[in-house]
Amino acid sequence: MCGIVGFTGLRHAAPVLLDGLKKLEYRGYDSAGLAVMNDGVLSVKKVSGRIANLCEITKDGNTMPGEVGIGHTRWATHGAPTEENAHPHLSNDGKFAIVHNGIIENYIKLREELTERGYHFDSETDTEVIVHLLEMYYKGDMRKTLIKVVNRLKGSYALGVICADEPGKIFAAREASPLIIGLGLDENYFASDVTALVSNTRNVIYMDDGDFAELTSDSVVIFDGTARPVEKKSSRINWDVQAAEKGGFDHFMLKEIMEQPAAVKATTAPRIRKGRIDFEEIDISAAELAGIRKIVITACGSAYYAGCAGRYALEKLTGIPVETELASELRYSDPLIDEHTLVIVISQSGETADTIAAMKECRAKGAKVLAIVNVVGSTVAKLADYTVYTWAGPEIAVATTKGYTTQVTVLYMLSMFFAEKLGRISGKEYDRLMVMITRLPRHIQQAIDMNPRVTELAKKYHKSKALFFIGRNTDYAVALEGALKMKEISYLHAEAYAAGELKHGTIALIEEHTPVIALCCNRKIMEKTLSNIVEVKARGAEVLALTFRDNQKILSEADDLLFMPKVDEIFSAVIEILPLQLLAYHVAKENGCDIDKPKNLAKSVTVE
Ligand code: F6R
Repeated sequence: MCGIVGFTGLRHAAPVLLDGLKKLEYRGYDSAGLAVMNDGVLSVKKVSGRIANLCEITKDGNTMPGEVGIGHTRWATHGAPTEENAHPHLSNDGKFAIVHNGIIENYIKLREELTERGYHFDSETDTEVIVHLLEMYYKGDMRKTLIKVVNRLKGSYALGVICADEPGKIFAAREASPLIIGLGLDENYFASDVTALVSNTRNVIYMDDGDFAELTSDSVVIFDGTARPVEKKSSRINWDVQAAEKGGFDHFMLKEIMEQPAAVKATTAPRIRKGRIDFEEIDISAAELAGIRKIVITACGSAYYAGCAGRYALEKLTGIPVETELASELRYSDPLIDEHTLVIVISQSGETADTIAAMKECRAKGAKVLAIVNVVGSTVAKLADYTVYTWAGPEIAVATTKGYTTQVTVLYMLSMFFAEKLGRISGKEYDRLMVMITRLPRHIQQAIDMNPRVTELAKKYHKSKALFFIGRNTDYAVALEGALKMKEISYLHAEAYAAGELKHGTIALIEEHTPVIALCCNRKIMEKTLSNIVEVKARGAEVLALTFRDNQKILSEADDLLFMPKVDEIFSAVIEILPLQLLAYHVAKENGCDIDKPKNLAKSVTVE
């Protein structure tokens, strides 16, 4: 999982490439590089560490003249994040430079073959085989060469190439890794994500698997595996440049937390017509729906936890059994899935390798797949039978926030949409829930308004050795996501437990002043969580409870309190998570962590 960019035009390429790479840094940030072509000569600069280092050694690109170039920001998979392993990689004759996002699965065999043929390798990467294959096959026709080369590759790639014999041109190819062409005036571009393009153009072409592209300053040709040009429609990006900038916030994560009322509104509003929820994108009849015997939700990380949070409403309102399964487990578990199963996959990026593999497995077993996805034109979006976009806008911080809340919101809306189609919800209940859906943005804002209090609490908890998050049912689902947020950005040990499970082992870890964050927003089982609060208090824990102001019993037991807006538990998760996102953020800030780029992580996990 890396980011790639390419530029061809009439101006200095390196600064444009650096600007694009900065926008892609969320995809990987352990090394970076540029290759630029000037008068038929390629020059390459690479660094380990952040793009800032690349800007420094190239004086913001000014020491690299040339109007054509490619760039890369890396999250290391094959080989350490060193300068040698950073992209671009050069062919032995210095004629080709390439950047690559993806994994070449058969690289060991190819490396042996190429070594035998006399090519020498400068890096430990899987990618380097590609550049030597280019040199080996090139006989003056770049299009044919590129096709020959990718025919030798197994795996995934978004590939960018420049060739000293092809002045003014950049080439690209895509298979199972995102790649988008940007269409400019007297210049054209490619990038792994539209965020790298919007400061230059809003007109883009989403490449499909098996597509190749040849770009000059004034032409874009997309061709297929037989070198025949293919017609592609261009799309217009409808969000503005500021959406992918910090806009005065210290971190993207804080900005994205604050954007959640608007993001949830963007998810809900277009799908509410005359007081009813309508998903035009789901062309599924009532009869087909009635034939569904179970729903399986699958995803990774926070997207999986979004599934855990949304499954209660889905099961309750539709009456269809709902299972949740981690995509990395499901793909190898030979699941009992058939044409009577509806599989819901959830993915912010739409690129997560395990999620894609799980959805392929489910489709092969005959299931229909509905995808809840944020990134337009992503692999998950393209592969699904029904694609529901969350419309959250670009999410740049590695830790997801608005991605999660909009995913859960879609699940709530799907629950109502399906329940109505199946005739399993009364008009009165539907109207009651509809009011709650339309009020979600307002309630989320009320939860955000707790920020000053959460900031104080972070000062109290940031030195803790370990934190425990407990809850039952929907509260437990939120606890899982709250604990993940805490660990990934603050590096504190944080665990979520179904409150009733504590006494089956984990309570042994509770000692004097251990923070326990108790989620008590599910009225039906609050009393039960209260008994767990009492148990941990008896062992010295400091309890921070999230609950409603009228919950007298918890008020008297907890050490600290955060009061939630009054909402029904069926849709409470998207509101309850807000203070936990803020707590993780402020704890990480207190501890001086790199919040938007946590160690060892990257935004999309395109490897297994
Ligand atoms: C955590 C986080 C990850 C992702 C997971 C799935 O904050 O962002 O756990 O949720 O890697 O990513 P997507 O949703 O892109 O499939």
